Amino acid sequence: MNNKDSFDLPSLNEARKRIGDIPYVDFNLDDDCRNLGKGKTYFIKTHGCQANQRDSETMAGILDSIGFRANDSEKGADVIIINTCAVRQGAEDKVYGEIGALKRLKRENPDIIIAIAGCMAQEEKTIREISAKYPQVDLVFGTHNITNLPKLLNNIYHERKRLIEVFSNMGEIVENVPVTRFAKHKAWVNIMYGCDKFCTYCIVPYTRGKERSRLMEDVLAEIKVLKEEGYKEVCLLGQNVNAYGNDLKLGYSFGDLLEEAARIGIERIRFVTSHPWNFDDRMIEAMRDNPNIMPYLHLPLQSGNTEILRRMNRRYSAEEYLELFKKLKETLPHYAFTTDIIVGFPNESDEAFEDTLKMVDYCQYDNAYTFIYSPREGTPAAKMEDNVPMAVKEERLQRLNEKITFYANKANQKFKDQIVEVLVDGISKRNGQAYSGYTPENKLVNFTGNDVKVGEIVKVRITEAKSFSLDGVMVE
Ligand code: 5AD
Ligand code: SF4
Repeated sequence: MNNKDSFDLPSLNEARKRIGDIPYVDFNLDDDCRNLGKGKTYFIKTHGCQANQRDSETMAGILDSIGFRANDSEKGADVIIINTCAVRQGAEDKVYGEIGALKRLKRENPDIIIAIAGCMAQEEKTIREISAKYPQVDLVFGTHNITNLPKLLNNIYHERKRLIEVFSNMGEIVENVPVTRFAKHKAWVNIMYGCDKFCTYCIVPYTRGKERSRLMEDVLAEIKVLKEEGYKEVCLLGQNVNAYGNDLKLGYSFGDLLEEAARIGIERIRFVTSHPWNFDDRMIEAMRDNPNIMPYLHLPLQSGNTEILRRMNRRYSAEEYLELFKKLKETLPHYAFTTDIIVGFPNESDEAFEDTLKMVDYCQYDNAYTFIYSPREGTPAAKMEDNVPMAVKEERLQRLNEKITFYANKANQKFKDQIVEVLVDGISKRNGQAYSGYTPENKLVNFTGNDVKVGEIVKVRITEAKSFSLDGVMVE
């Protein structure tokens, strides 16, 4: 393949700009792409969040619709796509390791196509790096042009030349895109794309563009079809679901969408992620009044110190978070709460970190995802001095994790000897003789039983409560 690249670099600076109205269009396939994948296979490796998982299902759906078949691994696949995450340096390093490892496959079969997609593709530095050091990569496409995949592949098959197509700004919302969902009983449903919050540490508002909501009728229609197809659970996806509808100015909000979605009658509805900012009463009421909205809320804290929160541009103080948390606990006493916390943000003093620990002591989360701050080039925080030494960051993370584990264990003990409802995912990862699935509170349960079927909701008696999972026996 010819490695003389010609492309426009994506620009994080351009991606900052929130440009005009977004048109809604239907997916359209060029005639000359219809049989592109006949006799060929693909493999998609997915990193990162649920938005990426869902994007991979779209890529799979598009490839299936043009004749490709899925392959179990990289080996033997004609098209390999790595759907990347840019949220922390560790995630990026992993991807470079994978691209490196693919060099051998490419040498053995130069006809395979190696593609890089997702959030890393939206960064200028990734394109520069791949262009300079990774000739084995044939295609780079971003988060805004997934639906161009057939055209891009067609182009490569004809031109035999490396192709890089990444848009800094989003073009349109494409509906009726083919999708191959990876599970048959629970489904991701995008309700909005992008993020306008601009937390100073976060790359996402640059890699996924401005907040764009799907029309409520399109979201509800998708949920109805899923219910008819036998799906038991939908998870509504957005970087910040609370902001759903704001951009549309059609007079409806996330609370309205929750109500309408609940009315469809699918067994389980979940959603991620909620920002503590603009969390309105309508939403809380919908959560309180609809039993098929699962009693589980992920409410990212990030820091328990008001000054650090201000420097993170989180738009709430520690007191405001606490106030919201108390209100939610009072209104939704049966809910499980989880959170995200970053340690070692620039200027985080011992006292500021202690504030985070105090907050955890107060909130006693069911679980938390905890991270060491990772500067992301192009974000405002990357310009702040990264002045907490790594050894201190690591020690803080360890202390925090000990606390999180303590409260996770405490929360799980409540389930000991209780009978819980579990939506069965399949064979347990830990024990080939057991099954696993999740309770309404999003607790992982490993259990034994006879004639257990994936996708059914079964009753399980909890025999042992561990910090991050429950063990049990099916009772019917
Ligand atoms: N460094 C460390 N953690 C980060 N997160 C987002 N950006 C960064 C970063 N630069 C964490 C936040 C967010 C979660 C998805 O990832 O806690 O909620
Ligand atoms: Fe990673 Fe964020 Fe992109 Fe999801 S949106 S893949 S978490 S960078």
